[in-house]
Amino acid sequence: AVVVLDFGSQYSLLIARRLRELGVYCELLPADSSKERIAELAPKGIILSGGPQSVYDAGAPGLSEAVRSAGVPVLGICYGAQLIAYHQDGRVEAAERREFGRSTVKVLEDNLLFDGIGESLEVWMSHTDHILEPPPGHRVVARSEGGLIAAMSDGARYWGVQFHPEVAHTPLGRTILENFVRRICGCVEQWSTTSFVDETVEWLRERIGDRRAICALSGGVDSGVAAALAARAVGDQLTCVFVDNGLLRQNEADQCMAVFAEHLDMKVLKVDASQKFLEALDGVTDPEEKRRRIGRCFMEVFEEVAPSLEGADYFIQGTTYPDVIESAGDSGRHSAAATKIKTHHNVGGLPDTMKLELLDPLSFLFKDEVRAAGRVLGLPEQIVDRHPFPGPGLAVRMTGAVTPERLERLRRSDEIFISELRSAGLYQQTAQALVVLTSDKSVGVLGDFRTYEDVVALRAVDTEDWMTADWSRLPYDFLARVSNRIVNEVPGVNRVVYDISSKPPATVEWE
Ligand code: XMP
Repeated sequence: AVVVLDFGSQYSLLIARRLRELGVYCELLPADSSKERIAELAPKGIILSGGPQSVYDAGAPGLSEAVRSAGVPVLGICYGAQLIAYHQDGRVEAAERREFGRSTVKVLEDNLLFDGIGESLEVWMSHTDHILEPPPGHRVVARSEGGLIAAMSDGARYWGVQFHPEVAHTPLGRTILENFVRRICGCVEQWSTTSFVDETVEWLRERIGDRRAICALSGGVDSGVAAALAARAVGDQLTCVFVDNGLLRQNEADQCMAVFAEHLDMKVLKVDASQKFLEALDGVTDPEEKRRRIGRCFMEVFEEVAPSLEGADYFIQGTTYPDVIESAGDSGRHSAAATKIKTHHNVGGLPDTMKLELLDPLSFLFKDEVRAAGRVLGLPEQIVDRHPFPGPGLAVRMTGAVTPERLERLRRSDEIFISELRSAGLYQQTAQALVVLTSDKSVGVLGDFRTYEDVVALRAVDTEDWMTADWSRLPYDFLARVSNRIVNEVPGVNRVVYDISSKPPATVEWE
């Protein structure tokens, strides 16, 4: 394994991602992790990430004893490199001006880190301070266009780069990271989904012991994989709960239950709470108010089913890596402690009184890795390749009030769009596709009659991380077919538009 110490850079997660792509197991740990915590992983190397601070800031994290005494190669990136310089009697200059963006770096001498790179490379810089003089015993091995130190090393244990090899804007960054982990650290192992599955099943088995666990299934890939791992770990001690909130897509509840029954060897308790959710949403048009009420309903549903889940000590959820990093949670598979559930989480909140301990077995995986794990676990494509679907469901896919009639209109439109995407082989080429029922009406003509009916919007996006997204360039002929079917087959809809907004400034969902 390689340990990545996180000094707070927005790119820390990407370092982990890149190493994983290289098949090297790594974990992202807080910068101040103890010697014992690091030793647990028996790392072959340590990477110090970048960070927002200056080594001169009061309270700025230092080069800890844990790192110094680890006895393995250390690669410092940006702030990490400055730390190596500063704490070993080199000189770091607190600069006023930032060096930001693309730059070219000249490699000054042959060395392991830049092996196979050639004489220069394009890099991405994002720093203010810079290294003025490397520590005694270190050599400058690369310089930037402006003559600043871009890389230094003592040729053995410490390596530092001022630029960011982990970002896509450093095209050869992957080679540099690979040189570090393979050539310098000597990592030979291949981290794989199979080993992830085996280790996680073992971890869950240890954590849960002979106690009981519950898992909320949504029909999506994350919760499906989390549940399948838990089922493999503790079998009968697991109960899954599937809440039909009445805001699901056409036949979704039945289809999900059928898929669970066929492919997941676990107890699934289906709770039909449609009525409750619809009543709570009656007359509500404000998007945030819809979300709040839905969150509250989920909470109440769990409170209601709690007695039948008596004795459960653990709540398993499918939070993935980006979610965890964003919310700084610590209940994950790869952190020391589990937290008590508070009022808010994935399924919209759980009652405090349930006092469940939260377990996040997927907290170290990216979406595509979750999918790969699903395949290893034998989950069917219907679960594994499914587009994300928001917890508040169709309620946030219709502007205006939520009524059974409007839900029906939206369901039928959505069913046409999604099934056409599948039969055209386009479903997997978009990251997410959906239909929005707008609160607009428009004039149309049908036969010799005037109509005044609903407008639906089709939306399909391409994205990897859902933080930014572009609208999918679906073929015109395909859009024409979908539009035609919707206006012909869905009563009450006479117009179909295609949403060509990117995120930002729009979001994927309309509410
Ligand atoms: P936005 O609309 O924010 O959506 O661009 C980004 C991704 O998040 C999904 N989404 C949700 N998922 N609960 C969820 O589990 C929610 O409340 C929620 N809201 C949005 C959305 O479908 C997209 O994949």
